[in-house]
Amino acid sequence: MSWTKSELFTRSRSLSVIIPTYNESQNITKMLDIVSSCLPPETNAEIIVIDDNSPDGTGEITEEYARKSRDSGGCEIKLITRKDQRGLSSAILAGIRASIGESVVVMDSDFSHPPETIAKMIEELKRSDCDIVVASRYVEGGSITGWPFKRKLISKGATKIAQRSLGIKIKDPMSGFFAFRRHIIRNIKFDAIGYKILLEILVKAKEARVKEIPYNFTDRKSGESKLDRSVISDYIKSVWKLYRYGKSIIERRTSVHFLSKAGRFYTVGASGLLVNYIVSFLFGAVLSNLWYIYATMIGILFSMTSNFILNKIWTFEDRDTSLKRTLLQYGSFLAFSGVGAMFQLGMVYVLVGTEHMSYALALFVSVAVASIGNFILNKRWTFKEKIWS
Ligand code: GDD
Ligand code: MN
Repeated sequence: MSWTKSELFTRSRSLSVIIPTYNESQNITKMLDIVSSCLPPETNAEIIVIDDNSPDGTGEITEEYARKSRDSGGCEIKLITRKDQRGLSSAILAGIRASIGESVVVMDSDFSHPPETIAKMIEELKRSDCDIVVASRYVEGGSITGWPFKRKLISKGATKIAQRSLGIKIKDPMSGFFAFRRHIIRNIKFDAIGYKILLEILVKAKEARVKEIPYNFTDRKSGESKLDRSVISDYIKSVWKLYRYGKSIIERRTSVHFLSKAGRFYTVGASGLLVNYIVSFLFGAVLSNLWYIYATMIGILFSMTSNFILNKIWTFEDRDTSLKRTLLQYGSFLAFSGVGAMFQLGMVYVLVGTEHMSYALALFVSVAVASIGNFILNKRWTFKEKIWS
């Protein structure tokens, strides 16, 4: 691959403007004129047009325009022509992949998105230290001109669905006009179904800080909208996928929490054995010559107490140390330990006595069952947590 002269001198840019087109021959020239004149000169921007091999010649017009612009030292314009793929989201994604700007702006090519807003978006991106700026029809100052009631209704309905089912906070997640810092999408695996690439970014870049600024959406004057029936079913599909995605993240997080708590609980149990042994030994043989049964009882009490304290503070991270609550928890913890011990005893008795299992195996099975039971009972009742959390 060979580099053009301007690519050799400027291998990185601060801004890329992504413009998807399909049959926009009536709009594209004027659009490129206005967008390039609206870009702040210091941004050293590139414009990327992604055309899905439009039959009306949009690609050829763009190619010609890009050549002239390059020859006259104007704005860098790249054309990507996709011959065997169609679809707005995937076109935008192809544009983003081919772009090199630190910030990226995505917009339509039919003047629904006023190019003058780009400078405001970039300004906001810099000024407010956020990662995504969404040009919004639904914040104060924003509006829609030229849409029939039915389209407004569909747009509002789709917005509500996104907000409710995906936990999206912003007012216009269905916007097709937005800017973002490139780094926020670096770990995203895109599905790119349908129209709504912004929605996918909002769901999958959860940590991103988002701002909305108002703009006036004006329905196109030339050419035709590409929104057809399949857009609605694609929308439902993509929301469902994103919903499942969110759920799977929560599931994964929950199982990590559960397992790490179980791990701590067993570690505490093991430390209890050590405490038990050392304390019993100290009382029985070193400090005083207590009867070994008494010394063992003291050892058990000590280990249960240290187990309780460690589980409260470390395993279940319970910071409420008020006396009443702590004593109630302590009582419940001791009771479950007692129940666990009785259960273990009973189980060994049945497994060895009636089932004729070897003692080693019976002991292993009953200790395992009793300790799992102990963990769950204490999690649920002593420390009042949900079991699966
Ligand atoms: N490359 C490519 N491939 N571009 C496409 C395709 C496609 O399959 N479909 C549409 N486009 C381009 C159009 O040429 C236009 O520049 C832009 O994407 C938006 O298409 P329209 O057909 O004009 O969409 P709209 O006006 O109905 O939808 C608008 O409203 C939505 C908000 O409700 C767009 O602004 C969307 O971006 C926006 O999300
Ligand atoms: Mn449009």
